[in-house]
Amino acid sequence: AYEWFKEMRKVSPVRYDEERQTWDVFCYEGAQKTLTDYKTFSSQMGGGEISLLGMDPPKHKLYRSIVAQAFTPISIEKMEPRIEQIARELLSARVARGEMDIIADLAFPLPVIVIAEMLGVPAEDRELFKKWSDALVADVDIAKGQTAMELLERKQKVAEDLYHYFGSVVEEHRKHPKDDLISALLQARIEEQSLDEQALLSFCLLLLVAGNETTTNLIGNAMLTFLERPQLMEKLRADRSLLPTAIEEVLRFRSPVQSLSRRVTTDTVLNGQQLKAGDRVIIWLGSANRDERQFENADQFMYKRHPNRHIAFGHGIHFCLGAALARLEARVALHTLLQQAPTMALRDSSTIQPLQSTFVYGYPAIPVTFN
Ligand code: HEM
Repeated sequence: AYEWFKEMRKVSPVRYDEERQTWDVFCYEGAQKTLTDYKTFSSQMGGGEISLLGMDPPKHKLYRSIVAQAFTPISIEKMEPRIEQIARELLSARVARGEMDIIADLAFPLPVIVIAEMLGVPAEDRELFKKWSDALVADVDIAKGQTAMELLERKQKVAEDLYHYFGSVVEEHRKHPKDDLISALLQARIEEQSLDEQALLSFCLLLLVAGNETTTNLIGNAMLTFLERPQLMEKLRADRSLLPTAIEEVLRFRSPVQSLSRRVTTDTVLNGQQLKAGDRVIIWLGSANRDERQFENADQFMYKRHPNRHIAFGHGIHFCLGAALARLEARVALHTLLQQAPTMALRDSSTIQPLQSTFVYGYPAIPVTFN
């Protein structure tokens, strides 16, 4: 896709695709403008305001402020020791065995366990919860011979199960408040009203959907990028303070979220093109983050890149709420992996294929062996 993006940026950085009846924004400047101007480019996509992601101000601001406290850099920083402990536990058995799959054994379970603990999901339900959140985001299974329709139906069923499950967890928290996110959501008030059941449950689901697969893919994309560059791997191993800037570059170079959508509210001009009220717009973050007019040597992975104003977490009022958490989880996961695992190599690089998706960028499996 990156070759195609490059071509599109050159010939039509903002264009209308008749077939999909959609505008595509490929350039950095256009992407930033669209995301900044939330009045002209609405996040309400017609499916109703089901979650924060699909809300516009003023409602968006009210709802966002409720969960925002749990995600400030200070609240997130406090979680570091626990995240480290989880990463160590996940890794210890694998490293001894001499091989592992970066995705299944580390990048997938880590964010699921972290969010489950933040929300306050009882520890004994952790396995069940992991299975559900896996099924909910799996577009991987298309590759295993399922049709898109079967997958959709299965996802719907899983979403219903999860919904019911959260319902019972919430009930339990109502009776016995604890020091976690679900208890905080139960106490939250919007214009003196508490959140209705629907709003509360969609918050829980949103955190799962928005936070898990994306973070899994960031960790996987980072490991793959480093494994492909053995010299860089050695540098990072020797000096782990290089990790945060290298992770930012992974976010730019292999952006876990490739595209966002918006709906035009009033006729407007973007990059010389006339957009009409009601039109659908797809913003290609993956392309914007490779725009050579914004980034020098945009197609090169530069682990010390500075400045690096990528928009992998979006831009403007919907800027990713979980950005600090995702960065911390990625840093801890990679740090622990570099520390615990002796020299590492891809088991068979020819079998490593990206997920078939236009929304997310990641790999279903990254098998490695230890020397
Ligand atoms: C929003 C990316 C991890 C929660 C967003 C948006 C992007 C994004 C691009 C903007 C969506 C839009 O403008 O329509 C990512 C990436 C992640 C990541 C690349 C990992 C590398 C997380 C995590 C959480 C989270 C760990 C929470 C546990 C959210 C929420 C929103 C959001 C709640 C909606 C914010 C709003 O609408 O105001 N994310 N995300 N994300 N993200 Fe993330």
